[in-house]
Amino acid sequence: MDHIQIKDHTFLISTKDTSYMFRVNKYGHLEHLHYGGKITMEDVDALSYKKYILNGMTVAYDRKDDAYSLDSLPQEYASYGTGDFNEASIEIDSGESFTCDFTFDAYDLVEGNVPIKGLPSSYGAEQTLIIHMKDKVNGLKLDLYYAVYPEENVIGRRAVLTNGSGKAYTLHKLMSYCVDLIEDDLVLMDFSGAWDKEMHPNDRKLTQGTCVISSRTGFSSNKNNPGFIIKKSNTREDTGKAWGFNLVYSGNHYSSINKNEYALHRIQGGISPERFYLKLKAGDSFETPEAVMTYSGNGLNKLSQNFHAFINEHIVRSDWKKKERPVLINSWEGFGFKFKKDDLINKLAKNAVKLGMELFVLDDGWFGRRNDDKRGLGDYDCNLKKIPGGISSLSEEIHKLGMLFGIWVEPEAINIDSKLYEKHPEYALTESDREMLFGRNELLMDLTNPDVRDYIVENVSKLIDDNDVDYIKWDMNRHMNAVSGTYNHEYIKGLYDVLDRIFTPRPHVLLESCSSGGNRFDLGMLCYSPQIWASDDTDAIERIDIQKGLSYLYPLSSIGAHVSASPHMQTLRKTPLETRFNISAYGCLGYELDLSLLSPIDKAEIKRQISYYKKHRKTFQYGTFYRIDEEEPYEVFQASGAETILTKFRRIVHAVPVYDKLYVRGLDEDKTYDIESKPYLHNLRQFGHLVNFVSPVKINGEGHLMTAVSKLKGMEASFQEYTASGAALKEGICLNPLFMGTGYNDKIRIPLDYGSDMYEIKEHE
Ligand code: GLA
Repeated sequence: MDHIQIKDHTFLISTKDTSYMFRVNKYGHLEHLHYGGKITMEDVDALSYKKYILNGMTVAYDRKDDAYSLDSLPQEYASYGTGDFNEASIEIDSGESFTCDFTFDAYDLVEGNVPIKGLPSSYGAEQTLIIHMKDKVNGLKLDLYYAVYPEENVIGRRAVLTNGSGKAYTLHKLMSYCVDLIEDDLVLMDFSGAWDKEMHPNDRKLTQGTCVISSRTGFSSNKNNPGFIIKKSNTREDTGKAWGFNLVYSGNHYSSINKNEYALHRIQGGISPERFYLKLKAGDSFETPEAVMTYSGNGLNKLSQNFHAFINEHIVRSDWKKKERPVLINSWEGFGFKFKKDDLINKLAKNAVKLGMELFVLDDGWFGRRNDDKRGLGDYDCNLKKIPGGISSLSEEIHKLGMLFGIWVEPEAINIDSKLYEKHPEYALTESDREMLFGRNELLMDLTNPDVRDYIVENVSKLIDDNDVDYIKWDMNRHMNAVSGTYNHEYIKGLYDVLDRIFTPRPHVLLESCSSGGNRFDLGMLCYSPQIWASDDTDAIERIDIQKGLSYLYPLSSIGAHVSASPHMQTLRKTPLETRFNISAYGCLGYELDLSLLSPIDKAEIKRQISYYKKHRKTFQYGTFYRIDEEEPYEVFQASGAETILTKFRRIVHAVPVYDKLYVRGLDEDKTYDIESKPYLHNLRQFGHLVNFVSPVKINGEGHLMTAVSKLKGMEASFQEYTASGAALKEGICLNPLFMGTGYNDKIRIPLDYGSDMYEIKEHE
């Protein structure tokens, strides 16, 4: 089937489950007709916005036509100064005027994609439609690109502006896309947060006016992710209409939803126009980053599944594309800056390998004078006091143990207490006439300077090649302060250039990007790094929200998720080991704690967890993911591949629990399934003096005996088995009862605050 059909100046872009339609009207404007479920070419007139007379204050486009105004017409891209008082998609200044009026000139249809100069973008599109537009008065040219990904229900959008006039212009704003939806009762779901609190979904009912999601920190930011969703107010995980948007970009971004008095919602996004300006000389062009959009008529799960499949297939590159990611051990939370090679080998690596971990990652603190976060960034010489023999000897020993070797770098930043700064202070990004402003004691490097880029490329490449490095954690820990014009954009292009030069020739290296956790979780970075560290907040309960938020826009294979120590270093919360694993399993599993401090029983549990994870890794990382609508205290994640793995996370236990049911999505209703709970141990210490209810002898629940025994023994959680049809599982089956304070037997489930149950659901043989 032709996924882009063109008839009488009407364009219909079709994916498996969605249609996108617009046409050239009699004035040459691009009139948006539809973005949603499937329609056909024949529906063009029925779908068009009917207007036979102008009302009230409306400014008419043509004096002879009193029914035509751009203020109420849904459009493909909005000019300024044409009687359209909604937000414009472009702002360009000739020195005298900002007015422009783009009308259709011609189109091209090409197979595959058209890459963007200097910016990453999606690949593997079926076809790309290019609409060429022209302003008849000033000679500016605008090209709109539509790349179609039929299987994943995604359309890639971007714009290119060319100054075809004879004089210079100043460009202030050029959005990557614009979609004018005529729908009412819409809600914006954005993903906002902070360091340690990334990606919290936030619903805002759209009322008349403009809602903005943006970043001013120089990067995509943890404050407002560039991705967002527009949904009807009654849309749920499995029902209702939803539109998803994201940018393939890592710099300052801006998206707005402008609702006018007729409930026309103009949705657009791209590079932030705040303090952006670019002199566009005659003949110059400017290309926006790519935006991607999807639609689901079946709720948010389907929308997320579209994005997940798209990212895995058309964004992620390298040998790690669609490849199962290794279980890793990271040194940071266990050791920070204080470690010696012996600790790394004897306390971490040797234990890790015994427990089944596959990748050893040496985090911060291995180079220069870096014994705290005040110094050393910019230098790449190994601290031989900490690691005698250097990185190559450590890498060799790790490889001998049978693990992959990974290492942390923060190449975009510099400390003034570093050898590099002594030699090249000009590499730092500062404002010459003002005090330097530090973030985490560091300055950014000027990535617009080719010498800086060469320095980074040389040093990181050498680090990888000389030490047989299999994995890099690429960190970046501060905001970009006080920049204007195109500086931020040029920096981001510099970053992409550096990443491209280091990693494209080394596709075997697994790159995990990080920015104080999830400060740069975006599709631009995913073009280079198949996975991204989700958050420095590794508290399992907080992670439910963070990973759930990420799952709306990003696949589980892209989410770095680690089990860390309890009580947790940031929240001081105690969380069962089981739940810490259960949440990290829905992502790229790692462990980040001092393994030498674990009790024998916790080690045995971790070993059992890792072998369970490996058995189901494909499902956890690449399965079809569902969030299941359930009320407090539950949060439910489901991943379905060859089998289904569903986890019910519980927050606070109540003395009188409500009925506890298991709802499973996406099964064959006519088939029968076996359901088994994942075995795990309860830690005896958490029962304290209560053990005396079952113990034949009196025990001090907080005494030495209890401590000693609980390091060696645990209490096996009640094992649950059920058999049910796919139809019954869709309706919800009743689970075994939860403990209610009156008696216990092996059928009773012990819930615990912050407890969780993981189930495997397999077709009955
Ligand atoms: C950042 C990262 C952490 C860790 C530290 C090291 O905060 O997000 O994971 O690597 O830096 O300094």
